[in-house]
Amino acid sequence: MGKVIVKVLIGLVAAAGFWFTSMAMGFPPVFQTMFIVFALTGTFVFLLLDVPHTTPPSGVVGLISVIGFFCLVGLGYGAAASLWPQFETGDEQEKIAKVLNGKENPLDPWNAEEITNRIKELDEKGKALAERMKNLGGDQSAVAAAAAVASVAPATGGGGEGGGGDIMKLGEEQWQLQECYNCHKIRGEGGKKRGPELDNIGSLLTMEEIKLKILDPKSFMAEGFEKEWEKGRMPDKFKDVMSDSEVVALATWLSEFKNTSVATPKPIKKK
Ligand code: HEC
Repeated sequence: MGKVIVKVLIGLVAAAGFWFTSMAMGFPPVFQTMFIVFALTGTFVFLLLDVPHTTPPSGVVGLISVIGFFCLVGLGYGAAASLWPQFETGDEQEKIAKVLNGKENPLDPWNAEEITNRIKELDEKGKALAERMKNLGGDQSAVAAAAAVASVAPATGGGGEGGGGDIMKLGEEQWQLQECYNCHKIRGEGGKKRGPELDNIGSLLTMEEIKLKILDPKSFMAEGFEKEWEKGRMPDKFKDVMSDSEVVALATWLSEFKNTSVATPKPIKKK
């Protein structure tokens, strides 16, 4: 009995050690949990070593025991594996490709020409939009500009998701792709890490100002988020991983959120 307690204690200490070490190293929680499961499985095997021998079954009983044991272990593995978060390899690869390329679509080696054209087209649209915003004066509603772009843009026809002309769709896609939802709640979704809810951001900032905030997070500070602003909680990487037209699309999409019943904090101009 004493032996069992010692082994369980060792297992628990190891589990705690894994938990805190992996936390200090910045592993996501799912990995931390996985390490704990490893430690507990290890402890279990460690305990099994002390189980007294039994006489091995032979003949038919032996065969059934072996098959039964494999079925049991197989079921156990299957069940445990299905508890972990599931990923679609294709989806993840697409996301990675999009971020790495910093362009509207992952490069498809079979269709490079169409994609290059599409990128050029979207880039031009972005520039046209920025130009228009300048001419209109920052305060003009971004809807007008977005609508103008959408009408100027011919349907790309190339098929595939993301459809060229739909700046709002591209904006929402960027919201997902850049994982803004990790810190910001919008339409009641997301924001597990603390950041302001953005449902009313369109009443407080223009499209140009939101763009500035994305490209340079120090440019504005959300009221009541002084500490987070000081610490630079909002990542300063979007200017490196997003193309100009992607930032414009995202900012345009966000500037449409004017839900005054949500207390989006007031942005204070810092730069
Ligand atoms: C790691 C967390 C994090 C991520 C990811 C993040 N933000 Fe933020 N964001 C914050 C925090 C914290 C604040 C408040 C402090 C500040 O203003 O810098 C903030 C502030 C803002 C504000 C100003 C809100 C206000 O009311 O003044 C906007 C707009 C914004 N973020 C947009 C975005 C967009 C768009 C993305 C994705 C491209 C994004 N954020 C990604 C943490 C994050």
